[in-house]
This record gives sequence, structure tokens and C-alpha cells, in this order.
Amino acid sequence: MALDKFLVEKMRAVTTKAAFAASKFRGLNDKIGADNAAVDAMRVELNKIDMLGRVVIGEGELDEAPMLYIGEELGTKKGFEIDIAVDPVEGTNFVAKNLPGGISVLAIAERNNLFHAPETYMEKIAVGKDVENGAVDLDFSIEKNLKNLADAKNKKLEDLTVCLLERDRHKEIIDKLDKMKINKKLISDGDVSGALYVTNDKFGVDMFIGTGGGPEGVLAASALDANECFFQCRFIFNEENEIKRAKEMGIRDLQKKYNLSEIISGDSIFSATGITDGDIIKGIKVDGKSYYSETLVAHKDSKLFKIIRKKDEII
Ligand code: FBP
Repeated sequence: MALDKFLVEKMRAVTTKAAFAASKFRGLNDKIGADNAAVDAMRVELNKIDMLGRVVIGEGELDEAPMLYIGEELGTKKGFEIDIAVDPVEGTNFVAKNLPGGISVLAIAERNNLFHAPETYMEKIAVGKDVENGAVDLDFSIEKNLKNLADAKNKKLEDLTVCLLERDRHKEIIDKLDKMKINKKLISDGDVSGALYVTNDKFGVDMFIGTGGGPEGVLAASALDANECFFQCRFIFNEENEIKRAKEMGIRDLQKKYNLSEIISGDSIFSATGITDGDIIKGIKVDGKSYYSETLVAHKDSKLFKIIRKKDEII
């Protein structure tokens, strides 16, 4: 069964309203204020939609998040059973400092088709649809992945660009990339957008790699799946309570490598609206009593993957 196309526009409206709410906090050095505003707006909008919605990735467990908590039921309770992953503000630092790359993002799939990712780190690797499955793999060395990628894209090694979060934990990868003279795009935050760079050559990124948030990985996987890209991931459990939580969530093999189809299956919709200007989508622009927004929407079954620009009235 496919998700109804009317949901694409509804989801665009949800992330747009959340992005607009968060945009009022640009440069206010208030990450929590921005997040709360986006959470409120997102929840109000999701509750207007005819669906039996359930949050599978959200602001945390019920005891730590009063709204958009994991398991919260949303929507009018009429219509399809839908699982929802949300990140009302992805790149809270970007919004707090008014730097490029803050987005409001969600993904939906039919019930039980969206992985309930624990709130742990995740190793991730993503390449575009022009690279055949099997060319890159989390278990390959960085050298082997790059060599295979260069062959698959018919490029020289030194013409490849790899995107990753600038973190101490990535020192070994960064050193290897430097040694091989591979161009890097080192991002300070925002690895949903980092992974999305592989969807189009115009962003100049051949591979996304490294460890970031698990929930962000699932959100990126939805857009990558709709765009027929390759994505693989593996959770990292450092703490005893993370292991306990993962087991409660039904994860038995803690070392398991997940392919896209195990993270998201069936039809899905992804929507990401810019809060601050970014490489992929521009941020909210206020113009008198209206505001302009840019949203990247993806709908797997209708092969939709495009940026929608909209003008809305400020109410
Ligand atoms: P927030 O918006 O929640 O601050 O997350 C930003 C982010 O950069 C994510 O994109 C990424 O997955 C994660 O943080 C990386 O975590 P860390 O900053 O701990 O390395």
C-alpha cells in the first residue's frame, strides 16, 4: 500500500511551520527555545492530519520529553496507521548562532516500516545512486571504499570529495584522507544534510562517512531511499543503559550492519525545511506579513524528490 499523496503537502506544511517557529530564535543563542518552538508547531500541525500517527523517533522517552515523545499518538485518529520520525530542529547550534544548515525535518512510513532507532551514535556510509551496491561498505577500509568509489564513478582518487563531521573520533579517517590527498567537506554539525549531499552531483560530495546520531541516520535514510542512493549503518553502544535500552527495543545483535531496506521499507515521505540558509535549502525569509520557505520533499512511490518554495501568511 502506498502513502496517500495528500500527505506530501501536509508534511511539507508541518516542517515549514516548525522551521518558521524556530526561525524566530536565529542567533538568539537559545537552542532550547528554538527547539521548543519547533516542537510545539510541529505537534500542532501533525495533530491536524487525518492519520493514526505514532512517533517512533522523537524528542526522547515520555519521562524526558512532554511532547513528540517516542510512542506519542498524533493525528485525528482517522486514516492510515503511520510511523513518524521527527527532528524539529536538526542543527540546534546553527540556529542558535544563525549559521547555515539549520533544518526542521521529519520522515513518515507505514506502521512498522520505520526503524525505531535508539538514541545512540551510529556509524554511517552513503553514496549516490550512480554507485552500484556493494562498492562501498562499513567493513571495508577507507582506502578500499575510495578506490572502489573512484572506479565506480570513473574519477581519479584525488577528484573525490568525502563529507564527514569534524570530530576527534574521526581523526583516524581524516588522517587517512589527508594522506591520500582526498578533498574533504568537514561539517561542524548537521549530518542529515551531510548525507543528503550525495543525492546530487551539484553538492560536490561523493561519499558521506562517519559516526553521528542514530535518529539523524534514520531520517537521512528515508530521503536516500527515495532517491535510490546507498546507505549502510551500524549502532554504537558505549554505555550499559544504551545496551539495555537497545535490547528492550528488540535489537539482539548489537554489532549488526543495517542496509537501507532494514531501516526503512515500503513507501515513505521525507520533508526538510530550511531554518537558516544552507547548501541544499534556503532558510526562512520574512517579508512583511508573509514568509518564504524552501522544503526538500521526497515521496518514494511517486519518485518525487524536489525542493518546494512557498509563500505563507504570518498568522
Ligand atoms: P542537534 O541538532 O541535536 O544539536 O544535532 C546536531 C548533530 O550535528 C547531528 O546532525 C549529528 O548527528 C549529531 O549532532 C552529532 O553528535 P555530536 O555533536 O555528539 O558529535
